This record gives sequence, C-alpha cells and structure tokens, in this order.
Amino acid sequence: MFTIITGAQFGDEGKGKIVDLMSGEYDLVVRFQGGDNAGHTVKVGEDVYKLHLIPSGFLLDSRVLIGPGTVMNPEVLATEMDMLAEGGIKLDAKRVGVDAKTSIIMPYHIELDGLRESLRTEKIGTTKRGIGFAYIDKVARDEIRMSDLVDKERFLKRLEELAPSKEAAIKELGGDPSIVMDEVLIDKYVKLGERFASYITDVSYEVNKALDDGKNVLAEGAQGTHLDVIHGTQKFVTSSCTIAGSACANIGVGPTRVDSVLGIVKAYITRVGEGPLPTELLDDVGEQIQQVGREFGTTTGRSRRCGWFDLPLLKKAIYLNGYTSIALTKLDVLSNLDPVRVCVAYELDGKTLDYPPEDTSELARCKPVYEDLPGWENDLTGVKEFADLPQAAKDYVLYLEDKMGVPIEYISVGPARAQTFKK
Ligand code: GDP
Ligand code: IMO
Ligand code: MG
Repeated sequence: MFTIITGAQFGDEGKGKIVDLMSGEYDLVVRFQGGDNAGHTVKVGEDVYKLHLIPSGFLLDSRVLIGPGTVMNPEVLATEMDMLAEGGIKLDAKRVGVDAKTSIIMPYHIELDGLRESLRTEKIGTTKRGIGFAYIDKVARDEIRMSDLVDKERFLKRLEELAPSKEAAIKELGGDPSIVMDEVLIDKYVKLGERFASYITDVSYEVNKALDDGKNVLAEGAQGTHLDVIHGTQKFVTSSCTIAGSACANIGVGPTRVDSVLGIVKAYITRVGEGPLPTELLDDVGEQIQQVGREFGTTTGRSRRCGWFDLPLLKKAIYLNGYTSIALTKLDVLSNLDPVRVCVAYELDGKTLDYPPEDTSELARCKPVYEDLPGWENDLTGVKEFADLPQAAKDYVLYLEDKMGVPIEYISVGPARAQTFKK
C-alpha cells in the first residue's frame, strides 16, 4: 500500500501528528520535498518531539527515508538524532536512510537566504534555512549531493569548483564571502559526511521494492498545498512542489502505485510569513484561535496568522492533490466561538467566486463571503468518538465534509496521539 499525505492549506496542519499516528501500519515513511523549513510536532504522552527533517514515523519502528527531492542540512539531521538519542531513541543506519542524490544545504545557502530576504522590499518571510538557494543550485546543477558529502575528496573538489561563484554571490548581496571556504565549517561538514556515510541509500529502489514485497509506504509531505512553488500563492511560497503528485516524481515511484492520498486540513486556517490569507482575522477571534491553538511557528517561533476555514482554497487543494480522504485537525480549538464561520466564496470586483483566482494579487483582493454555523462551548479534548461530539461540532464536521465532497477519515481534538479518532 502506498499512501501520500500532504498539507492542504499553508502548512502546520498537523501532518506530523497524523503521520506518527498512522506510521504504525507502515514499513517505510519518506520525506519527499522541502528541508528543515518544516516543523512537525509529535506528542506522545508527555513527550513532545519537534522535528524539522527526520520523518515523523520514527517512533513506531518504521524505517524513515529522506528522498532525493529534499534539500538536507546534515547538521540539522545530526542535531535531531542526538536529541532523540538523549531521550533514549537511538536511530542508526538501519532506521534512517538518505538518498545519494539528496541536495546538501551548505552554510552559504543559509547566508544567501538571509541576505536576499533582508534586501527584499516586499518580503516573503522565509524560514532562512537556505531552502530556496539549495533548490536554485539543484536546478542549476551546482548542488553538492549526499554522495559528494560522504566522500571527503570529492566533497572538497566540488566545493573548490563552486566556491568562486558562491563567494561572488554573497559579496554582491553585501555579505562576507569568507564563509564559503571557512575551515571550521568545512571540517564540520567533512565530519558529518563521515558520520552519515553508512546512511546512504537509493530511495526510489527501496520504495518500489517494498511495494513489490507487499509492504506499506507512507510519503510525508512538508509545508502545504498553497505554498507549492508552481501552484501556490507566488511569490509567497516555498521552493518545492508540495502537492501529492510531487511525491511520485520526487521519490521516483509511478503514479499507478498510489493507493490513497490523505489531506491534512485544519478546522480553520493559518499562515506563517507573508502572502494573501483572505479569511485572516485581525481581531479578538483571531487572537483567541492563535492562543488556544498555540499557533506559533515550530521552526521560527513566529506567530501564525489565523483565519476562518476557507472553502475555495480547500477546493483548489482537492483538485491539486486528488485527496481520497481527509484528516480534520484542531477541531477542539474552535470551542467557545459563536458563530463558527466558513468562507464559502469570495467577492472580487463585483463578482462572486467559489474558486480562488489563479493570480496571487487578485487573491489578495478577494473578500470572503461567509456562512455562519452555530458554535459549541464544550471542551472537545477528551472526546473519543464522533458520536460524543456536541451536535454543533458534528454539524460543522458534516457541513465541511459535504462542501468538500471528500470523506473525513480522521478527526483530531488535541496534540496527543490518543486525541484522534476515525470518523
Ligand atoms: P505540521 O507542520 O503540519 O506537522 O504541524 P505543526 O506540528 O507545525 O503544527 C501543528 C501544531 O498543532 C502542533 O503543535 C501539534 O502538536 C498541534 N496539534 C496537532 N493536532 C492538534 C489538535 O487536533 N488539536 C490541538 N489543540 N493541537 C493539535
Ligand atoms: P511545515 O512542514 C508553514 C513558509 C515560510 C515562508 C515560505 C517560504 O511545518 O508545515 P522557505 O523557508 O520555505 O523558503 O519559506 O514558506 N513555510 C512554512 N509555513 N509551515 C511550514 O512547514 C513551512 N515551511 C515554509 O514561512 O512564508
Ligand atoms: Mg509545521
């Protein structure tokens, strides 16, 4: 069985939590795009794991893989593995694999990301993890790959070849080019290469072979649909394809092998960084959702902007991903709000639209049209099954399911693994 999970909104929908929950049934869990710009939170009992790179399936014995479509900072991988080891979770080359073709995020990518962002008059609000610049190098065929990193001679030769252009680029943006050939940093990367040499693998082969052998594979998306570099709200997007089809292309597995595509959908919407968010709430309600939902970025600590559920954007996400089912998260956060509003359409230049305009500047001008549903006061965090939800919460879920036209498979009412039930 091959399942793809993606975020249906602007990221932080609760992908990590759902992947952890499901991973018990999967032999392999694979990250297929993005890098440590992601922040996936897994809570089990009192333990909270905030992961940027390691796929969220590590707790339940799945083998976790970092695919060739990702951009990987090896220092972050080391930090996460050390952090998990301190907590008694020892991951080794049997449990973790990194594809030989994975692009390595170098210190100069991070430097360039920060410099470029500081010079933009209209900011994107990147996570400053060097993601965009690492992808630029991949496309320009100027990347350092995992297979280079683990071979000291090859790594140093490649770095020397690339250094002049990287130094020039940093200089041009007003930065300090000495970072490119900094001996301490180079030495750190050489040591990381030695440490992870045995982790090298061929992710496409592993995934296809596992499927041939009747095993289960879960592809874990990062970011969210509307941050997709092609279909998202440019320029306020990340640098990779975040939609489900990208899992096939990036892992190297044919679309005919996909069995299901699960969309993770928050019961409202959030966004970190800049860019349009038509239902954004800049009032007490937005503040309440932010506080109750603890909507602060896992990676950068920035406040997440909050808004009501946006059906037009969700419809687009369903088209872009072809979801077979949905996990609705953070329903508990909407308690004590009355009414609960759902954006069913936009108004733009005197027209009513039930699907987002393709142009980002037009989306930014869209005014939401709402339908109001009755709220509920009950605390939902202890609810164990759909039947036990208050009627208004049930009605909200059924309303969304009807409007989305895709079955809601899971409902999440709290951060812990146990606070989830099948609908
Ligand atoms: P991801 O990037 O999609 O994995 O999501 P994040 O982990 O960045 O953000 C989701 C946050 O909401 C995390 O802090 C989770 O622990 C938390 N969370 C997940 N599901 C629920 C839920 O149903 N209710 C509440 N209150 N919190 C949740
Ligand atoms: P997870 O996987 C939310 C946003 C950044 C910024 C834009 C570009 O936790 O859902 P980048 O550093 O990728 O070049 O930044 O994308 N962004 C995210 N927002 N969740 C994420 O990941 C994100 N990863 C990147 O805030 O607006
Ligand atoms: Mg996140």
